[in-house]
Amino acid sequence: MSDVKRILFVDDDPNVLSGLRRMLHGMRGTWKMEFVTKASDALKVMETTAYDVVISDLRMPDMDGVQFLQTVRDKHPEVIRFMLSGYMDKDLRTKAAQCVHQFVSKPCQAERLRTLVTRALALYEHLRGCEITHVLSRIESLPVMPDVYQQVIDMFHRPSCSLRQIGQTVAKDIGMSSKILQVVNRAFYGQETKIIDPVHAVSYLGQKAAEALIITSGVFGMLPNSKIRQFSVMALQEHCIRVGSLAREIAKVEGLDEQDQDTATMAGILHDAGKMVLILYFADELLASIEKSRRERIPLFHVEKEQWGITHAELGGHLLDLWGMPNNIVEAVTFHHEPSRCVQKEVSFVTAVHAADVIDRELCCDVGGGVSDSFDTAYLQELGLSDHVETWRRLHLPVLDEEGVHAQA
Ligand SMILES: [Fe+2]
Ligand SMILES: [Fe+2]
Repeated sequence: MSDVKRILFVDDDPNVLSGLRRMLHGMRGTWKMEFVTKASDALKVMETTAYDVVISDLRMPDMDGVQFLQTVRDKHPEVIRFMLSGYMDKDLRTKAAQCVHQFVSKPCQAERLRTLVTRALALYEHLRGCEITHVLSRIESLPVMPDVYQQVIDMFHRPSCSLRQIGQTVAKDIGMSSKILQVVNRAFYGQETKIIDPVHAVSYLGQKAAEALIITSGVFGMLPNSKIRQFSVMALQEHCIRVGSLAREIAKVEGLDEQDQDTATMAGILHDAGKMVLILYFADELLASIEKSRRERIPLFHVEKEQWGITHAELGGHLLDLWGMPNNIVEAVTFHHEPSRCVQKEVSFVTAVHAADVIDRELCCDVGGGVSDSFDTAYLQELGLSDHVETWRRLHLPVLDEEGVHAQA
């Protein structure tokens, strides 16, 4: 793959485009940038030229940004899609979320845009560099959500749907609602505060956590009972929920904003989704890997890399990307065992999910099989966070006390 990246900017306002051109002048060595004022022209040039990134405005007269990026997603799924936009209300944002990898608000500083694009390019290059094709060639297709779960997930992206309505839909499906209540009550609350109403559960959790929880319940729900027992899937699922909850707390004490706290929660809940693919399609090999990890005292994700050329973290990142998750989530999931491979070198949701995962596995029972890895110490040192670990651990203790999860010796 060439080092020069092709980036296409689309905005109906020529002044915005010339501003961007001026602002990003210094990137000419690494980015080949093209600028067009019409979405239809952009689609035309994309027929003959392969772009790495498309950055589109939202409001354009011939075709709006959402419609344009939806078409790009369908015709050129490999292209990274950014939306650069001024004010965007919640409804529109929800609608756009299914086709946009990254939102950037206007006006945007050159440095910020440069950083976001560089990070997204590095993430997808990392994912595409993994030996995913080797894994995919052995399975017919990656899992698709069961219909009933997909319907609920779609509701999160329909602006007219309230959390209450979503809760009511969940309540109609006995399997889904009992699963959600079971997980919520075990992972978020103590004995005294049992939640028995799915509508209450969904609105208490809030949109991001509820959506992630429904996705993860759908994913885990695909596994047959024999595998659920064999791989302690319930314990793994509870671990994921606790990681989501602790990642939010860590993001909060590190001063991240509300949006990043949401990302940390959602990515935390989804971080081990790739394990489900391994359990579903490669159960025997996974058992052998767990055994090898224990025998040779090597963290499981290293054994996975050796075995499949890809870890469950990277596989999960791929899966969530295919399901249209934004790249912040994909990034935090992909790098949860190796945050130092992420180009972003400042405290973020990636840090929060990594730390929450390590702390939960330290303080709780063995949830993933094999030998657990510990903190990416070089990463924490580089970010000057080594002495924050004790504070993060203390954040998790009340949850563990409530749940009655006991630390293993
Ligand atoms: Fe993991
Ligand atoms: Fe984990």
